[in-house]
Amino acid sequence: VKRQKQRKVLLMGKSGAGKTSMRSIVFSNYVAKDVRRLGATIDVEHSNIKFMGNLMLNLWDCGGQDGFVENYLTHQRTHVFGSVAVLIFVFDIESREFAADVINYSNIIRALSECSPNAKVFILIHKMDLVQTRLRDQLFAERADYIRGASEGFKDSVDFFATSIWDQSLYRAWTMIIYHLIPNAASIETLLQQLAEVIDARELILYERTTCLMVTHVTRGMENENPYTDRFERISSILKTHKQSMSKHTGIPAGTANFAEMQIKTGRFMFFITRLTENTNLAASIPPSEQIFNAARIN
Ligand code: GTP
Repeated sequence: VKRQKQRKVLLMGKSGAGKTSMRSIVFSNYVAKDVRRLGATIDVEHSNIKFMGNLMLNLWDCGGQDGFVENYLTHQRTHVFGSVAVLIFVFDIESREFAADVINYSNIIRALSECSPNAKVFILIHKMDLVQTRLRDQLFAERADYIRGASEGFKDSVDFFATSIWDQSLYRAWTMIIYHLIPNAASIETLLQQLAEVIDARELILYERTTCLMVTHVTRGMENENPYTDRFERISSILKTHKQSMSKHTGIPAGTANFAEMQIKTGRFMFFITRLTENTNLAASIPPSEQIFNAARIN
């Protein structure tokens, strides 16, 4: 029997902040446009997500309506906030009651520091697509500052992300969250580094197969100067959309639909994505040489 490592992840934030939408996009293979169908979350929606083989993400999507939150903080305090590995708190950038949202957040932070003082907190300032581009950075920084001030014991460790379901920023944030949850990330990186050296790859990117999120990557040589710093989550998003359209055309559920291999060859680089293990796909960026490319694929 494979030992499964359970990690409890709380997803919280006011009703309508976008929790259920993002969970559906990241874990259930919806694409952004399908999300409006979802109704208000009633109480806690548990989902167990098998991840990287023996890692079980225990996701609690906690409905944000006031009555529920009150209940979490009183009767269910230890049940909800006990043994939490990660709290993801979602703020709606469009909320007209930001001060009230922060008070609500600090109540939750207090319960968390009492029941799970070693938890990691991620704050997603969400629906950033609704803010004019030129105002985004400043507004994000102001909100993050204010929220950090209410983070008590987690003040120095809390991480902030500006997100939207309409671009790859959501993947970027969740990639960081997932990285935090993978117990053996460092040893995976070491092995990936060795593989990159052996096959002379400029870059190797490891993707989890169900979510298409990046697990980790190694970058070597001239690829270090690649100006597209968001390329990892862009590929996530492309893989996800591809999975979705394959499932539409073949009738295979998106959770299991997978491609065999994708290749791109140009005069400047060669690239392929293929299955590496049961739970991972590997993307490799190779120098423009058929020989190195073919050897890398076989290896
Ligand atoms: P409860 O289930 O009541 O706790 O709400 P929730 O936080 O789960 O919110 P939900 O996911 O149901 O999303 C509420 C609305 O926000 C939906 O109409 C979504 O389409 C919309 N929404 C979610 N994310 C985004 C985003 O990044 N940008 C924009 N513009 N709208 C979003």
